[in-house]
Amino acid sequence: MPKSLAPPNPAALRACMSRFATGVTVVTYESDSGPRGATMNSFTSVSADPALVLISVGHRARCHDQLLDRPFCVNILGAEQEPLASQFAGAQNAAEPRWVAGARIPRLENPLAWVECDPWRSYDGGDHTLIVGRVTDLGHRDGDALTYAWSRFGTAVEATDGIEHLI
Ligand SMILES: Cc1cc2nc3c(=O)[nH]c(=O)nc-3n(C[C@H](O)[C@H](O)[C@H](O)COP(=O)(O)O)c2cc1C
Repeated sequence: MPKSLAPPNPAALRACMSRFATGVTVVTYESDSGPRGATMNSFTSVSADPALVLISVGHRARCHDQLLDRPFCVNILGAEQEPLASQFAGAQNAAEPRWVAGARIPRLENPLAWVECDPWRSYDGGDHTLIVGRVTDLGHRDGDALTYAWSRFGTAVEATDGIEHLI
């Protein structure tokens, strides 16, 4: 028998989730009023063939309805780009975003990596919607990564060797 079906205490849930270290992205798109973006760390790779990635978007975010049916770009931020993460999370004047001229989908200049997507499927995720995008283009550069854990930004130093053979 399950121990308890009572919903977890929100603070306890936050405390657990804050111990899961992630990268930080800004998801950019062409809104009805020009290029816009939103900071998101609920980003994950889903499938290699077809190439699919997932973002989880809160119902209350302005981007929610717009991201359901239009292409978007996931800009994975470098260690020095914390001001952009703050700016696109609603901070005033944290950074002046610079956009790549002529990009098919609005994209930030010089992220650590970027992944352009067309909308593929979306799923109910409680007070969020899980949006799966099909990768249409991508790119990356060298550098350290911006991270988020313990409700704080941090950094992960670039590495040249990994454990791909285990995955
Ligand atoms: C580190 C960090 C990660 C975040 N991750 C998400 C996320 O995965 N999904 C989401 O909907 N909001 C996330 N947010 C909150 C949005 O960035 C915030 O609500 C933003 O104002 C949404 O912009 P919009 O309302 O203009 O669309 C995150 C904020 C921070 C600081």
